[in-house]
Amino acid sequence: MEQINPSQLPKHIAIIMDGNGRWAKEKGKERLYGHFHGVESVREIVEGCAELGVSYLTLYAFSTENWDRPVAEVDGLMNLLCETINKETATLNKNNIRLTVIGCVDRLPAHAYEQLQEAIAATSKNTGLTLVMALSYSGRWDILHAVQNIARKVANGDLKVEELGEDVFQQNLSTKEIPDPELMIRTSGEFRISNFLLYQLAYTELVFTPVLWPDFRKQHLYQAIIDFQSRERRFGKTSAQIAPSDSESL
Ligand code: IPE
Ligand code: IPE
Ligand code: MG
Repeated sequence: MEQINPSQLPKHIAIIMDGNGRWAKEKGKERLYGHFHGVESVREIVEGCAELGVSYLTLYAFSTENWDRPVAEVDGLMNLLCETINKETATLNKNNIRLTVIGCVDRLPAHAYEQLQEAIAATSKNTGLTLVMALSYSGRWDILHAVQNIARKVANGDLKVEELGEDVFQQNLSTKEIPDPELMIRTSGEFRISNFLLYQLAYTELVFTPVLWPDFRKQHLYQAIIDFQSRERRFGKTSAQIAPSDSESL
């Protein structure tokens, strides 16, 4: 933790929490056992981000494609979601954490949807970390949804095509109030995005770790932040433009 430069902390960290099933399999257990233990990592990483002073943490908890998993696993995950929200709302309030959600939440079972909305309302006044749960989320859904919103506004005469710039487009995404992540971490050794924040990750630094999500702890989070801080983010410019030294001119 001492190796982290507090003045260069990412404002927004996004995580693809992957590897619960393999973690359980390694132990000869059912996949749900892995999901159950993954909650402990969520608790620890939320706490770690809040302690560091990170402003936004987005956790990819359930993708659009995950609906196609076996019914028992989907049901188990939805129950775990309800249980966890129920148990953790008081702690979120205690730690001044605001819960929000991105994704097509209409698809969630009614009990999960209602509990989620209750927890969002109960934590809405908190001013510390914003915890964004990506649930029934996919990047393509997000982009298509934005295009539908925009098309509707144009058809109604509320928006002119010429007014549609990056800023307006961004305002129609599910992340409209959230800055793009500076750091994205994926656990479990997979090197892919799996339909996460496709638009928002345009210039995000990606960190991939072989650690399976239920084993992911604060030390791994710190390591990813240290890795992030060692990189030069150029945004298409040259190195000299980003960090001009005395001998180099712009
Ligand atoms: C991530 O772990 C949790 C969800 C996608 C809900 P997985 O369930 O994908 O675990 P692996 O990738 O099969 O090990
Ligand atoms: C991505 O993990 C989705 C979440 C972590 C919620 P998956 O396990 O679904 O991704 P793939 O299938 O390996 O690409
Ligand atoms: Mg997986």
